[in-house]
Amino acid sequence: MERLNPDKLPRHVAVIMDGNGRWAKKKGLTRIAGHQKGIDSVRNVVRTSRELGIRWLTLYAFSEENWRRPKHEVKALMNLLNRFLKAERKEMLDNGIRLNCIGQVEKLPPEVQKTLWQTIERTSQNNDMTLTLALSYGGRQEILGAVRNMLKDIEEGTLKEKQITEDRLSSYLYTADMPDPDLLIRTSGEYRISNFLLWQIAYTEIYITPTLWPDFHKERYLEALLDYQKRERRFGSTGEQIARHTKG
Ligand code: IPE
Ligand code: IPE
Ligand code: MG
Repeated sequence: MERLNPDKLPRHVAVIMDGNGRWAKKKGLTRIAGHQKGIDSVRNVVRTSRELGIRWLTLYAFSEENWRRPKHEVKALMNLLNRFLKAERKEMLDNGIRLNCIGQVEKLPPEVQKTLWQTIERTSQNNDMTLTLALSYGGRQEILGAVRNMLKDIEEGTLKEKQITEDRLSSYLYTADMPDPDLLIRTSGEYRISNFLLWQIAYTEIYITPTLWPDFHKERYLEALLDYQKRERRFGSTGEQIARHTKG
């Protein structure tokens, strides 16, 4: 396999971890068993990102729309999340990983919220990598919340209409302190965004692989990163302009 260029790594990788259910079905297992197996892939992608020196990793773990799933599946997912957070605390502390979350976290069961905030608190001094879990997250809801909060600030006089810029709007999102993702990976072959980071992915490179999330091992991740390194990011400019610019 080709080597990754350590100077061209994405600063921020975001992942839509999809396909646990299909993986389980193929094996004749329950969907819950698929989610359980998916945790190994989470651990894997976190470790690899940290080893490579990727500074920001954001994982879509539970969408706002996932609350529509059968009650027992939601419950199992919440239990798995709770256990994952407790089990990974030490590794996060040992490896300089700061935990962060985005989404309507107040909707999560109280015991999960407690574990989550405890882990966030305990890892808050770490600064080698920020692992963000998107939990009860929806991009539209996030933008709507930002608009509402901006209106409130306008009413209170702390925000003027003229001050509403792209940067200002960004500062009202959950991701206020984060760079936009450079690379978005979606596993299991679906060509959609499913309400993930709508504002933030305006110029993100998208990589979709048919591999189901529980099968997304280190090699698959490295392939995604290699593919990213071959892309030419133009941000609206022409290829010639980019070539001139990178030549110096
Ligand atoms: C992703 O796997 C995990 C979550 C959305 C929580 P799915 O559960 O969506 O798996 P498929 O899409 O049914 O295969
Ligand atoms: C997206 O996967 C959400 C997460 C990975 C957490 P879904 O499986 O919920 O997406 P859809 O419903 O197929 O679009
Ligand atoms: Mg799915």
